[in-house]
Amino acid sequence: MARDLEIVHPKVERYLRSLVPPRDRVMAEMEARAEREGIPIVGPLVGRLFYQLALMTGAKRVMELGSAIGYSTMWWARGVGPGGEVWYTDASDENAHDAIRYLERGGVAQRVHFLVGDAVRCMASVKGKFDIVFCDIDKPGYPAALRAAMPRLRRGGLLVVDNTLWSGRVTSRFGDDAATKGVKRLNQLTYASDDSAFAVLIPLRDGVTVVVKR
Ligand SMILES: C[S@@+](CC[C@H](N)C(=O)[O-])C[C@H]1O[C@@H](n2cnc3c(N)ncnc32)[C@H](O)[C@@H]1O
Repeated sequence: MARDLEIVHPKVERYLRSLVPPRDRVMAEMEARAEREGIPIVGPLVGRLFYQLALMTGAKRVMELGSAIGYSTMWWARGVGPGGEVWYTDASDENAHDAIRYLERGGVAQRVHFLVGDAVRCMASVKGKFDIVFCDIDKPGYPAALRAAMPRLRRGGLLVVDNTLWSGRVTSRFGDDAATKGVKRLNQLTYASDDSAFAVLIPLRDGVTVVVKR
């Protein structure tokens, strides 16, 4: 079985983290809980990228597929600013319950719509185009999520996908499991669609792909 690879050298990762200013109390609490309980949140390096992408595009409508306790939701909700909207989605009621409390304490719950159920189906239930769709669901579902998300973006809108290097497992040539297959297929599809959308996979943390719709 292939061993997981470090994407960013640990010393470089530590250096990058040392540059990031401390987060507020609620975010710090979420990060500590995620660390303690093994909840796979994007963390502050990628969270800052989300905030920057929202600012760069002037995003006001962000759909998130796979939100867990609402950590990435908090970055998007702060990025869209007052008057912006973010759709939280997760299969777990318990996660949504915790996320509501964190986002209330973080002062952004009124910008967030909370949907519980299959994330792609939740997205289908919301009308209108999005400025950004962020995908962080179970990896076998990535190709289907990509197909569902692209028509929902406005022109110039972004699809952002986490874990697109999947701890380096995308590089293994044998024994792909369903998750690795899902991530690799998404990577092939995003890079094969230059006429309609332009993708770059950023090797930050576990790999973040940003696709801009043309
Ligand atoms: C990696 S975590 C999300 C972390 C979150 N984006 C963050 O960085 O703070 C993935 C979450 O997606 C949820 N999930 C996975 N597949 C899903 C699906 N098809 N529909 C809805 N939720 C799903 C899981 O319950 C889990 O909480």
